[in-house]
Amino acid sequence: MTDSASGRGRISPNVRTVPPVKIVRRRHRLQTGAGGKQKNDLHAAPPRDFRDGFFYAPPQSRDMQIRALAPQKPLYIFDAARLAENYRGFAAVCGGETAYAVKCNPHPAVLRTLSAAGASAFDVASLAEIRAVRAANPQAKLYFMHPVKAPEAIAEAYTVWGVRAFVLDHIDELYKILRETALAPDLELFVRMALPKNGAAALDFSSKFGATPDEAAKLLEACRPVCRRLGLAFHTGTQNTDTGTYTRAVAAAADVIAKSGVPVDALDAGGGFPANYTGRVAAPAEIFAALHTALAENGLDNLDLITEPGRVLVADTTALIVRVEQRRGDLLYLTDGVYGGLFDAGPQLRWRYPVRHIPREDGTPVSGHRTNFRFAGPTCDSIDMMDGPFPLPDNIKTGDWIEIGQAGAYSQSLRTDFNGFGTADFICAGSLPRKTKKPKTTSKNI
Ligand SMILES: Cc1ncc(COP(=O)(O)O)c(C=O)c1O
Repeated sequence: MTDSASGRGRISPNVRTVPPVKIVRRRHRLQTGAGGKQKNDLHAAPPRDFRDGFFYAPPQSRDMQIRALAPQKPLYIFDAARLAENYRGFAAVCGGETAYAVKCNPHPAVLRTLSAAGASAFDVASLAEIRAVRAANPQAKLYFMHPVKAPEAIAEAYTVWGVRAFVLDHIDELYKILRETALAPDLELFVRMALPKNGAAALDFSSKFGATPDEAAKLLEACRPVCRRLGLAFHTGTQNTDTGTYTRAVAAAADVIAKSGVPVDALDAGGGFPANYTGRVAAPAEIFAALHTALAENGLDNLDLITEPGRVLVADTTALIVRVEQRRGDLLYLTDGVYGGLFDAGPQLRWRYPVRHIPREDGTPVSGHRTNFRFAGPTCDSIDMMDGPFPLPDNIKTGDWIEIGQAGAYSQSLRTDFNGFGTADFICAGSLPRKTKKPKTTSKNI
């Protein structure tokens, strides 16, 4: 275990009681042969313990399972129990509605696990995300929070999928929503306001979307007569490490609402709640204590509170296993990289994911000395490099596997197939909850 892999992001090097591993069949069927070697063969007969679309591996220690699977491709190991725990912990302190931001990780296992844990609202940005949520949770409340939507997407979301809540940050989007829903009387409209630039966020969200305070006030005024529920929304930027940003945002929202002169029903505080990658960050309880104080101080505690957490719920639920394809000094060429599941470690964000070397089967002692390694991804592009540094045993060699922790957020969802390296396998440690059943009558709005 690395120093950086402490706290919530800890990867236990010695998991002895891992429950049966369930391999979710995605694009490739992952099989273990008699010798324990993995082979991907779409035409081969299913192994003995393959049923219901899942492959069940016998219970073993985590490292033994990784060595037995011998993954040639990137392999995600998803911990459903951890996700359920994260969701329940967050929802308990939020004090409002928790609408998971599907873009962060739309894997069916994630959506199904959240639904079983009690999630009944989701933040979606596209028809594909709407369909994915409906497949896992037919009754969920959907917030369509992309400020610039295709007209066809609005129409289908409203008529086919029962979506009533839409965001907008421009008057043209309001006209579009009204046109595509034929002036529906049951709309819930959210005006997204821009916040000042946030240097404490890994990615600042102030420049692409969001109306200025004056525009936002005018939009609230324009929306009020044509909607059933009116909300104001903001987003502090992703991986926001400054709790004060939320309290300042609440004060800015109060000013906009006062300026609009119309009654507002809801405040959407967006996402941005930080995950614990390499150091201490404020826990949701700490952030919500500050947020609720700010709501009370600004006279907004009577509004419905909605949040759209992504990263904080899923980051630590998934580890990514990669293989060292070649070592050149302190540079390790891996089976995954910036164009695959490790975008955040690339030149844009330079994330230092916690890493762990998988001990070797042959008993070769792993050096106690650590070297700060850099990573290179499998594609031919020189942007596909990750500076880290990533501390690993200094005798790591070609063919070894590395476990990259905190890989549940913006990893699967950002994978590309550049150079043909896009596919990854996915296994679930422990069993997945059952699918939520479709209600007998088709629900319109929920
Ligand atoms: C509108 C909106 N809501 C929520 C999120 C989730 O943010 P995070 O994963 O930082 O919590 C995002 C991320 O891009 C977003 O754009």
